[in-house]
Amino acid sequence: MAPQLKWQDLGFQYMQTDSFMRADFTKDGGWSGLSACTDPNMSIHVAAAALHYGQACFEGLKAFTRKDGSIALFRPEENARRMAQSAKRIVMEPVPEELFIEACKKVLAGNRDWMPPYGTGASMYLRPLLIGSSPRVGISPSDDYVFLVLAMPVGPYYKDGFLPVAAMVQDKYDRAAPRGLGKIKAAANYAAGLLGDLEAKKLGFTISLYLDAGTRMHIEEFGTSNFIAITKDNKYVTPESDSILTSVTNKSLQQLAADFGLVVERRAISLSELADFAEVGACGTAAVITPVRSITYNGRVYAFGREDEAGPVLTKLYKKLLAVQYGEEEDRHGWMMKV
Ligand code: PLP
Ligand code: COI
Repeated sequence: MAPQLKWQDLGFQYMQTDSFMRADFTKDGGWSGLSACTDPNMSIHVAAAALHYGQACFEGLKAFTRKDGSIALFRPEENARRMAQSAKRIVMEPVPEELFIEACKKVLAGNRDWMPPYGTGASMYLRPLLIGSSPRVGISPSDDYVFLVLAMPVGPYYKDGFLPVAAMVQDKYDRAAPRGLGKIKAAANYAAGLLGDLEAKKLGFTISLYLDAGTRMHIEEFGTSNFIAITKDNKYVTPESDSILTSVTNKSLQQLAADFGLVVERRAISLSELADFAEVGACGTAAVITPVRSITYNGRVYAFGREDEAGPVLTKLYKKLLAVQYGEEEDRHGWMMKV
């Protein structure tokens, strides 16, 4: 069904499209082939391990209609590998990389009418999901798994432009424990962040910054994105920790920053360094970079650059990554997979 969508008005929200892909894993039969499904309501056992014990992980990646009219996925093999790592950490059956990529390609093929055209600023967001489906009341890993890939068009994330937001350090709650699940994209991590994010929003902060739960002296990441900063001496710094998600966007921005000649540092970042940053951003697939104009911590407001405009280095990185994704500039690192 051809949608009547105003591409420029799209936000970042669920939308039912023509179809999604599904594959099932059973202990005896292994992985099934992929099938296209249309009914968004699926039948699931009331005692499924995903529902009771959180055996659920997901991914998020985008496909773009490019300047030359081709359609390409951005680094899908990175998401495939990360989903396999997520699965292993919570003792789920990993989805083979080929199956993951095939599902991404097929879901795009099944939803061509929903693919945002070039020049609208919109893109197709893919949401792979893996859940344990066997009934469990005693705690043990599921035998059976359902793998889905949904696709929906999403908007240019910044309707009003690439505008800086206010953040606060959310130290009332921890999001991920050392050696816990923070490194993976487990559904549970997002439940862990909901209350802190909600309370921060009530106080007027768009995003919350979480600290390392071990010492609460280091910056970890925002609730749904990695922390990146440009120091006053022009270095790109980002936290290294085994309890934050390895962001594909951050990895790509680090490469672009290095290409631009910046020194890139991945290391523990102390809260005491907040005063040293010229620019701060939150990075992830959905928005690429959300510029952060201030971080409030312990009654003090640390401000970065102008309130109404992102800083020059993050702006340059943001524009560069989008230009590669939309095929306006050379894909030097081979990030785009044409479908
Ligand atoms: N950190 C968290 C907790 C996230 O949910 C996301 C979003 O996917 C990211 C970081 C950014 O990761 P990526 O750039 O791979 O989307
Ligand atoms: C992102 O893609 O940047 C995200 O924050 C993912 C989120 C919707 C879970």
